[in-house]
Amino acid sequence: MDSARRHTSAPDDVRTTAPAGRALATEAVHAGRDDLAGRGLHAPPIDLSTTYPSYDSRGEAARIDAFAATGAEPDGPPVYGRLGNPTVARFEAALARLEGTEAAVAFASGMAALTAVLLVRGSMGLRHVVAVRPLYGCSDHLLTAGLLGSEVTWTDPAGVADALRPDTGLVLVESPANPTLAEVDLRAVAHACGSVPLLVDNTFATPVLQRPAEHGARLVLHSATKYLGGHGDVLAGVVACDEEFAGRLRQVRFATGGVLHPLAGYLLLRGLSTLPVRVRAASANAADLAGRLAADPRVSRVHYPRIGGAMVSFEVYGDPHEVVGGVRLITPAVSLGSVDTLIQHPASISHRIVDADDRRSAGVSDRLLRLSVGLEDVDDLWADLDRALGERAAGAIPLREALARTE
Ligand SMILES: Cc1ncc(COP(=O)(O)O)c(C=O)c1O
Repeated sequence: MDSARRHTSAPDDVRTTAPAGRALATEAVHAGRDDLAGRGLHAPPIDLSTTYPSYDSRGEAARIDAFAATGAEPDGPPVYGRLGNPTVARFEAALARLEGTEAAVAFASGMAALTAVLLVRGSMGLRHVVAVRPLYGCSDHLLTAGLLGSEVTWTDPAGVADALRPDTGLVLVESPANPTLAEVDLRAVAHACGSVPLLVDNTFATPVLQRPAEHGARLVLHSATKYLGGHGDVLAGVVACDEEFAGRLRQVRFATGGVLHPLAGYLLLRGLSTLPVRVRAASANAADLAGRLAADPRVSRVHYPRIGGAMVSFEVYGDPHEVVGGVRLITPAVSLGSVDTLIQHPASISHRIVDADDRRSAGVSDRLLRLSVGLEDVDDLWADLDRALGERAAGAIPLREALARTE
């Protein structure tokens, strides 16, 4: 294997941000792979090495010193798997392209990615976090419990500026939020943040529907477990950001060990290539189902984001547990973003760890169900949901009322 192929970092030609004129669908297929043809390859190689031979200890010392100073990916061949991996670097390069950022840093899970961000800011003495509910339940819990020594102030988007303190290290929002699909005006919040980094969890939107860096977010986080992987077989997280912050994240990743496995890096790169197609097709299904749910007398409220997407949340008049127990084609399971459709009851699972009052005041009612819509035929999905919703009350509701139930 030539030394160029063994570089930890993706080659320079794949690390830079998207050249103007290339569409997202093109980037999704080619980013992180631009060097392959020149190397006589078509599929990206998977490098499973944990360590790499080096006969030049003096050179290694210099490269390790350079990494300790800036966190920039070491030049030349990789050193050790916890410091960086070439297959993972391809996924990072590709995701940075799609999000329009200088860099991206991958982690073992979305929670490991958020942990690394909090550790970076906490290590600078900036332990205060301003956050907008709802967030994914475990993100909420990590902040509320102060597990990493952080202190959180919860506010609504309009209250962000007033909640900032001299020791505020981060502002955190999800948009659309898990599980209510509430949307945040990212540009307005980024403006309110001033010099404090805004982290947008873009897991639900994906860069296909929304690129938060274009609206002023300094950090864009994904649970890559969801749409980026897209097939329910990879657990991963990633933060897309500028090179300076990426360097600090790599240093934390090296010191704390929440690295992504190279095989997961390979699967994520493969997942990215179909991301635009999957998100658009699943979103069309979701919009269709949102309309049918809004017109259904058994459903009291439907949440569907203005920007679209493949997530639909809805509240039922009846027992939500019966609906979860009644599906046959749809899988009752937590998580989201796979090719198949999943349903879950947030108050019981994804947001169970959040205090019940906090959960309810954030709009997560006990009757709310969250549907992650996949790529099945939409009529088959509706037939399953229709059956699971149980007996129909007589008479459909008027269209005007149906539309008013969709948010
Ligand atoms: C919006 C959001 N952010 C972060 C996470 C955490 O990601 P992971 O499960 O990959 O750690 C999740 C998980 O469901 C999520 O939905």
